[in-house]
Amino acid sequence: MAKSNVFVCTNCKASFSKWAGQCENCGEWNTIVEEQPLSTGPSKKSLGAERGRALNLGNLSSVDAPPPRTESGVAELDRVFGGGLVDASAILVGGDPGIGKSTLLLQAAARFARNGLNVIYISGEEASAQVRMRARRLGLEESPVQLASATNLRDILTTLEDAKPDLVIIDSIQTMWIDTIDATPGSVSQVRSCAHELTTFAKRNGVAVIMVGHVTKDGQIAGPRVVEHMVDTVLYFEGERGHQFRILRAVKNRFGPADEIGVFEMTGRGLAEVKNPSALFLSERGEPTPGSVVFAGIEGTRPVLCEFQALVAPSPHSQARRTVVGWDGGRLAMILAVLESRCGVPFTGLDVYLNVAGGMRISEPAADLAVAAALVSAREDSALPADCVVFGEISLSGALRPVSQAENRLKEASKLGFTSAITPQTKKKGADAGLTLKSMSDLVNFVNETFGDR
Ligand code: TYD
Ligand code: MG
Repeated sequence: MAKSNVFVCTNCKASFSKWAGQCENCGEWNTIVEEQPLSTGPSKKSLGAERGRALNLGNLSSVDAPPPRTESGVAELDRVFGGGLVDASAILVGGDPGIGKSTLLLQAAARFARNGLNVIYISGEEASAQVRMRARRLGLEESPVQLASATNLRDILTTLEDAKPDLVIIDSIQTMWIDTIDATPGSVSQVRSCAHELTTFAKRNGVAVIMVGHVTKDGQIAGPRVVEHMVDTVLYFEGERGHQFRILRAVKNRFGPADEIGVFEMTGRGLAEVKNPSALFLSERGEPTPGSVVFAGIEGTRPVLCEFQALVAPSPHSQARRTVVGWDGGRLAMILAVLESRCGVPFTGLDVYLNVAGGMRISEPAADLAVAAALVSAREDSALPADCVVFGEISLSGALRPVSQAENRLKEASKLGFTSAITPQTKKKGADAGLTLKSMSDLVNFVNETFGDR
């Protein structure tokens, strides 16, 4: 059979039989690369010709012990892992360059080492001296973490097999390379093969492996998006460069809830955990301001309050601007359309800016009502009371839908001194956590009752 080459797009993962400058599927330029086969072995025989080993089949009712875990002692980190680091698991930590991944992982390495794990930190990006300098800055120079600067995966795996660590940190997967693969480090085939080798190593030797992956400008783990399905856990380290807050978010976790977040603050001596993120995200709030609304959200298993800020201004352009930071642009367009067609609040000819304060990113539809409130409040130049929180999902008909964990949201609000809440109607009685509730069934009601006759 003739050898058939496969070309894949690093952006959308579509595959083609021949190379092209532009991907037919997603339209990106220069993203198509030749794919290398994972194994370079010569076996071309059909699998049926030779019998393999018989598998042990079990039934679904067998009870397995929960996976053994080790805690770092940093509550914000352990929660994101799902209650501590699982032995023999493969973890990918993605994030923008410079956001603090190396800092986070060096601090985590020191914590785990102090708790008795044999930890090896392999840096492919920095020389050992640089890592040591960072360790000194973080006050970790006495931690029993073993360090090496290397990029050749064959050397690294040999070293690891001899050293028998419990945890290995690979910083970063884009700098690693395998000498049998004819591609540069950071290319799809190198990154994928290296991640595959490291994941296999983790499972076979019972070692936890944490790999760092840089993300590209459009937010995917670079080319290496292909790595996400191989590993057990994918964490993103995010935040705005200008802010000191950093959020570690589990986007996939085979051993715990996804969407769980850990909140940290970047200080002069590394990352410090933030035990009460709601207080932090709301710390800069002053007098009630038009366009500012506090949303009672849920991140993973924990309630988090944060502030939506909207600004609406006459547009000097023929096409009005819609700018969003920290929320989904498509969802904003939907809310604007519902406000316009169901509630008679037009935004034509107006520029709309929407921002989540503190560099937080919200993906819950439960934030719809808070966004609508911020938009109308900004447009009408009329502030909501400062002690009021808002949540609820909006449907295209303009109806307000109840959201999950309403009681937890209200309890968190009450804990932080809020006294009233605007929410969708619920059948459940007595779950107001001591707040005065204004429950509404649709958006028209909400707009009329809150902002009166306009
Ligand atoms: P780094 O961990 O190198 O980022 P990444 O590995 O994601 O590329 O962190 C880089 C930034 O963090 C750098 O701009 C300096 C800042 N920083 C601090 O503010 N405090 C510290 O204690 C450390 C070590 C870094
Ligand atoms: Mg780094």
